[in-house]
Amino acid sequence: MINFPADLLQLLKKAERIAVLTGAGVSQESGLRTFRDEQEGFWTQYKPEDLATPEAFERNPKLVWDWYAFRRETARAANPNPGHFALAQIENHVPEFTLITQNVDGLHRAAGSVNVLELHGNITRVLCSKCGEYAQTWGDDSTSVPVCALCGGLLRPDVVWFGESLPQAELQKAVNATRACQIFFSIGTSGVVQPAASLARAAHANGATLIEVNADPTPLTPSVDFAFHGKSGEILPALVNAVWGAD
Ligand code: APR
Repeated sequence: MINFPADLLQLLKKAERIAVLTGAGVSQESGLRTFRDEQEGFWTQYKPEDLATPEAFERNPKLVWDWYAFRRETARAANPNPGHFALAQIENHVPEFTLITQNVDGLHRAAGSVNVLELHGNITRVLCSKCGEYAQTWGDDSTSVPVCALCGGLLRPDVVWFGESLPQAELQKAVNATRACQIFFSIGTSGVVQPAASLARAAHANGATLIEVNADPTPLTPSVDFAFHGKSGEILPALVNAVWGAD
């Protein structure tokens, strides 16, 4: 049983504008690995930082394509967990709610969240690395990377790789929501990758109440107003129930 401070419950009850930043930890209870977790099976020999880059794709497109094909299948097989559903419930209670995610698994929308900003793209979408045309279908020839039907360029996942810029429209909306919010949640993220990591600090500097929900303490923990360390799939439903009752 988690005891939430009464002042926090009051703040949430009357909140008009809430922004949330999520990371891989919110999908961990859906069976998806986090970035700082050990990779699985064949992929344990690689670090995400060595695969999720334009240089890695240039050097060995097949290896990078296969890693994303593997992660796309695991994301497709995953289901939202109670933490995803709790965030969708909060959105229904709060007039202005923005969910900013670093995750590419699509599980927030699958759980019913509507106002979702995917800062790092979405692994289920595929586009041409040359002309940018999105591909709805592609060959699954196991010996080569599928190519664009229009220009013959190599297809790639629609995710932001290290060193690539974030989608400007989504980032601007995330910054606007961060500036406007009264309460900012940082959930399931180690808060080490910019610019997402700086959103929580910007919200706090702007007077928002800062809440961290994460399995482990992070560099953000000393700066937050409320920290709950444990599983988001347990903490978030309990918080929704404490504030808005089991609806
Ligand atoms: N509930 C809550 N938090 C959890 C859970 C859980 N069940 N399981 C793990 N965590 C926490 C871990 O303690 C860790 O701090 O989730 C965090 C995940 O951190 P990372 O693996 O660093 O993932 P993330 O913060 O999303 O990484 C940000 O870095 O590699 C890039 O682009 C990639 O989007 C990713 C970005």
